[in-house]
Amino acid sequence: MRHFLDLADWSSEDLYAIIESAIALKQEWCSGGNRPLLHGKVLGMVFQKPSLRTRVSFDVAMQHLGGHAIMLGPDEIGLGKRESIADVARVLSGYTQIIMARVFAHHHVVELAKGSRVPVINGLSDAQHPCQAMADILTIHEHFGKVAGLHIAFIGDGNNVAASLGQAAAHFGAHFSLAAPPGYSLSEETLENIATAARQHGGSVRLFQSPTDAGRDADVIYTDTWVSMGQEAEASIRRDAFQGYQVNAELLRAAPSHAVVMHDLPAYRGYEITDEVADGEQSLIFQQAENRLHAQKAIL
Ligand code: CP
Ligand code: NVA
Repeated sequence: MRHFLDLADWSSEDLYAIIESAIALKQEWCSGGNRPLLHGKVLGMVFQKPSLRTRVSFDVAMQHLGGHAIMLGPDEIGLGKRESIADVARVLSGYTQIIMARVFAHHHVVELAKGSRVPVINGLSDAQHPCQAMADILTIHEHFGKVAGLHIAFIGDGNNVAASLGQAAAHFGAHFSLAAPPGYSLSEETLENIATAARQHGGSVRLFQSPTDAGRDADVIYTDTWVSMGQEAEASIRRDAFQGYQVNAELLRAAPSHAVVMHDLPAYRGYEITDEVADGEQSLIFQQAENRLHAQKAIL
């Protein structure tokens, strides 16, 4: 039994197979509907944080595949508060066939997986967002017809979304750049994991301080919120630190004219991205959000 917690635990072959499956399931859905591949299966969805895309796309994915999802919000099971994570895992794996969890500390989803007798999917932790990265690879592949050899530049905070995107880029042979202010880059461990995968698959990883330098040869310019869930108390410090890291028309003018813009959402318009760019012709952000559904099906 395998858990889907961190793309570093998976081989490129497995991740390619997931993307191929996502493409096939999307095509099948668009041609009239999916086969009931998960008939009778129940997904337990554990959330310590809010969600729109992850919560709805997993629920709808289960319905399309003939299964059922149960929402377990922070006030319902009190993961690690009302009951230990190990006990929640043991109980929940007696009722459900799959668990998806969105947590604060990454070790919480690891503990859940350790105690579970069914596969656990990471629906976002403070360190990783692997499901998002798979939907992003699907979107990039749809737009460019390939992923290997492309340049993906992430402008902003080097945390969960950037970490999983960098890992995915490396697995699929893309070049990954990150521009972040000092103190907000990827962790050493994440960088090492990305660099190792990049070396194996013909990609690379580069760090910049200047967003313009990172975006200069980019095919994809990606950003995420400057203030992640759980960091609200640091909002004003972070907004000061990230001044100059906005994805806006000026940044796009310095990038190749074919570059596309991506954002995992929710977007804090006027901070990390402008309306003009988010809603502009180069933006893929809503295609990306829809692809969460198709990628989730493949992961499930
Ligand atoms: N991108 C993403 O995971 O969105 P939600 O937080 O709404 O699930
Ligand atoms: N980095 C963001 C991603 C939201 C999907 C957060 O953790 O809040």
